[in-house]
Amino acid sequence: MGFKKVEEANTTSELEKVRLDYLGKKGEITQVMNMMRKLGKEEKKVLGASINEVKQKMEVVLTEKKDTVQEQELQAQMESERIDVTMPGIQNQGIGRRHPLSMIIERATDTFVKLGYDTVTELSDSPEIESDYYCFEALNCPPDHPARDMQDSFYLTDPDGPEETYMLRTHTSAVQIHQMEKRKPPFRIVAPGRVYRRDDIDATHSMIFHQIEILAIEEKGKLTLGDLKGTVEYFLQQMFGPTIEVQFRGSFFPFTEPSMEVDVKFNGKWLEVLGCGMVDPRVLEKAGIDPEKYGGFAAGFGAERFAMVIHGITDIREFYNGDARFLEQFPHFGDQGMTAFLEGRLAEKKEEKPIKEEAPKKQKNGAEPVAGGEIDISKLDIRVGTVVKAWKHEEAEKLYCEEIDIGEDEPRLICSGLVEHMSVEELRGRRVLVLANLKARKMVGVPSHGMVLCAFKDDDSQVKLVEPGEGAPNGARVTVEGYDGEPATENQILKKKMLDKIMPKLKVNGEGIVVWDGKPLATEEGGVVKSDMNGCSVG
Ligand code: DAH
Repeated sequence: MGFKKVEEANTTSELEKVRLDYLGKKGEITQVMNMMRKLGKEEKKVLGASINEVKQKMEVVLTEKKDTVQEQELQAQMESERIDVTMPGIQNQGIGRRHPLSMIIERATDTFVKLGYDTVTELSDSPEIESDYYCFEALNCPPDHPARDMQDSFYLTDPDGPEETYMLRTHTSAVQIHQMEKRKPPFRIVAPGRVYRRDDIDATHSMIFHQIEILAIEEKGKLTLGDLKGTVEYFLQQMFGPTIEVQFRGSFFPFTEPSMEVDVKFNGKWLEVLGCGMVDPRVLEKAGIDPEKYGGFAAGFGAERFAMVIHGITDIREFYNGDARFLEQFPHFGDQGMTAFLEGRLAEKKEEKPIKEEAPKKQKNGAEPVAGGEIDISKLDIRVGTVVKAWKHEEAEKLYCEEIDIGEDEPRLICSGLVEHMSVEELRGRRVLVLANLKARKMVGVPSHGMVLCAFKDDDSQVKLVEPGEGAPNGARVTVEGYDGEPATENQILKKKMLDKIMPKLKVNGEGIVVWDGKPLATEEGGVVKSDMNGCSVG
């Protein structure tokens, strides 16, 4: 019986079960052997010999079978885990990049770490939920202080808790107080963190953003305003490059005296990037540091602000949308070198890189990707619009200003150079086509958010507006069959390069229909785009 079971067992665990059933403590053979103790001497001799023989045979059979089964199991395992080294490698799925904000925060923090500052990031040292005391009061900003109006927050009340007000911190300056309470001077800290403000969200405001705070405290007299200026200047050079121009302006913060705001000159304009000052003795005193013995300086700035200035980002919301096409555009500070970037070397490189194209197979009707560059008309966001207002630019003779309804909440303000070709009256009420995803730029002081599509005679003698298709409502997108991919976002546009590639292929065909590379421009809602000229461009 038992031998048959050994034969039938196919795995080591089945075999073990058979072993236990027969040779285990309560196994059948063991039990027979136990029973033998009660037998007489003669009987024991006869039975004992044969039961011993059975036992030994069982052990041999079990061992042999175990060897076979183990070998089989090993083979099966090797088979199932076999690696085929000739298989093709895993395709590059895109390994992603550091987020532009992470890069700014790391660069800024590293710069201060090199200057001997300790990084403070622990939740207990840098809580996002703060009491009114740490966020305002201890920073010399009592409840009725007007400076509080600048920083409205989100408040939390605990009905069972103490009466104290809790809120989401509006600035990382609160970390200063925690550190002054905890540390013994001298010390230097740099504290990056997330902060919150009750603000309406728009292109430059977010309810959640990131700040970096520094605080340096030493024996009184050791740290001067000169040290603060030198530190800030060095830091800004690390961020914006060695040739950055820096300007300090007197300002007011409740927790520093004197206080300064700092601007950098970027693309010809002074841009405010940082607040700083010498720590007010009252703040030191409140946090338990003797202002007679110690003194120092502090500074705070926004990571988003730095990233927007450095990369020319115009909409703060882009940071949080998680769109890989936006996020992968930024050079890595660490591995590509900020200085190279600032000297324009990386910027050039970036421009050479074509906007990431959808795979050609996504294009309908077998349209080929554009030869010589992967930029095509589908990257442009051309919308049907109606001019609701038009007037002469107050400071530029050759420009008109127009408000054009392109189906958005508010009309777009656009400056165009149509002065020589039509009157303001002719413009008002006209249906037009607007190139809507261009980077906003100032035209003699007026911000222009797009361009108007025009048609012209080859000899430049006449320029007219291009007529949108009949029946297409404001906001309808104009596309070319076969090139109906997503338009680039406003920030992705490499304006000049793209337009130079796309515009020469815009023509008007023999039937007065505007075509790109021979294919008509049309809206889904109806109608092709017409003109009685022969060329087409934006103006
Ligand atoms: N906390 C200030 C803000 O959010 C920035 C600031 C200004 C921080 C001056 C400082 C400072 O440490 O000294 O607007």
